[in-house]
Amino acid sequence: MKRLSTILDHLQPQAGDSKEIRSLKKRMELQSLRSTCILSDERLKQMAYFMIHEMHAGLSDESKSTLRMLPSFVYRRDPSRASGEYYALDLGGTNFRVLQLQIQEGKLLKHRASKFRIPDWAMTGTSDELFGFIADSIRKFEQDKKIERSSRAPLGFTFSFPTQQTDINAGSLIAWTKGFTTSGVQGKNLVKLLQDAIDQRGIKLEVVALCNDTVGTLIARLFSDPQTELGVILGTGSNACYWEKAKNVTKNGKVSGKGDEEICINMEFGNFDSKHMYVLPELPFDAEIDKHSPNPGFQRFEKMISGFYKGEIVRLIFVQLSKNGVLPAVIASTLTKRNGFDSAHVSDILGDRLPGRHLTERILKDIYNVHIPDEADRHLIQEVCLMVVHRSAQLSGMAIGATLLKAGKQSCATVAIDGAVYQYTPNFRFIMEKAIKSVVGDHCDVRCVLQKDGSGFGAGFIAALSQLK
Ligand code: GLC
Repeated sequence: MKRLSTILDHLQPQAGDSKEIRSLKKRMELQSLRSTCILSDERLKQMAYFMIHEMHAGLSDESKSTLRMLPSFVYRRDPSRASGEYYALDLGGTNFRVLQLQIQEGKLLKHRASKFRIPDWAMTGTSDELFGFIADSIRKFEQDKKIERSSRAPLGFTFSFPTQQTDINAGSLIAWTKGFTTSGVQGKNLVKLLQDAIDQRGIKLEVVALCNDTVGTLIARLFSDPQTELGVILGTGSNACYWEKAKNVTKNGKVSGKGDEEICINMEFGNFDSKHMYVLPELPFDAEIDKHSPNPGFQRFEKMISGFYKGEIVRLIFVQLSKNGVLPAVIASTLTKRNGFDSAHVSDILGDRLPGRHLTERILKDIYNVHIPDEADRHLIQEVCLMVVHRSAQLSGMAIGATLLKAGKQSCATVAIDGAVYQYTPNFRFIMEKAIKSVVGDHCDVRCVLQKDGSGFGAGFIAALSQLK
């Protein structure tokens, strides 16, 4: 890593550079980027083995691993026994959702849902403001849908942040991720914070289950596919969960005492290798993003692959290439705002198949006021987007492959995935699936499926499972 930044420093254009040297420097700079973003099979395997090592360590002692391996207290149960009316909340990214589900013998009969955009003041204000916003949104949902109940209905709460659970309905936030900084939540009992806000507004709901979005996604799929082994989120943040034998969770006697039962473990893989960066393919831009994030030193893996950071990585590369004369100078002087390049535009540029890359030209001109008249530059811009996405997809596939190896599931298994990065980024799925095979082997025969809105539905299903005796 150090070597790459040294090369990049050395490549700064000098006044006396000949035309030939300039062109050579440009090519070397691009090649340096490519060699960090396009990972060999060997490199992917090395990372995967280290991830498996960290999984083992995290199951026995969290303080000795960059993977927390958090028990969800969701045990494998037969979903066909679940019936009734359940509610679900989904908090974790840019939006917040409220859902009502009718389940009969493990089948979702019908549902209703509403989506609310989380205002900045709730993401960065106080606990009362955040939970007040959540409870007000539930009330609005019930008013809009004309829902009235005489008794309390069970509610599942998907809370997609690292949470130390002590039971299915008890847990506290370890640390915020993905740009949230709300005060007064860390270390507090989340179920109580939510229940209090609900009770204060006279809403007849009882919080019976708390879960991570990865767990919600896995369980949502499990109701229709009993071979579901992993739940994965590749969106604003990134993470996965999988079924582990309870007896292997040696750090927690309450869990390990359940022996051969299977429990869903929330890996919190976004933090993988954050402490020492032993294996991650870091670019200088990653360090810059980390330094300016609200949680420097943490979630370094997530910062390389997720939607929340993708636009910023691309912007920083554009600016660097522009300063070094590889891309037009107007980029460095215009794209100056931190986090000022939308991750969705990275996908749009990547999907530009118009001859001359005129969609790329229009996006940059109309939205960012950057005019790129030369077609070759527009191709280069597209290539930068591809490199960043390539690394993200390979790293995601590596993490899924490592988890499959640890779970001992290389065939007849389903990986349920949700999140905008997976769903909407061109080329992503193909590169990711190739990386899974690089890690697991060509015989790998698992199905990766999109589990749309899994985190929301899953909370309702988990609430239902929690009521089974
Ligand atoms: C972040 C959170 C994690 C969540 C993931 C996907 O990594 O820490 O809990 O599952 O984002 O939303």
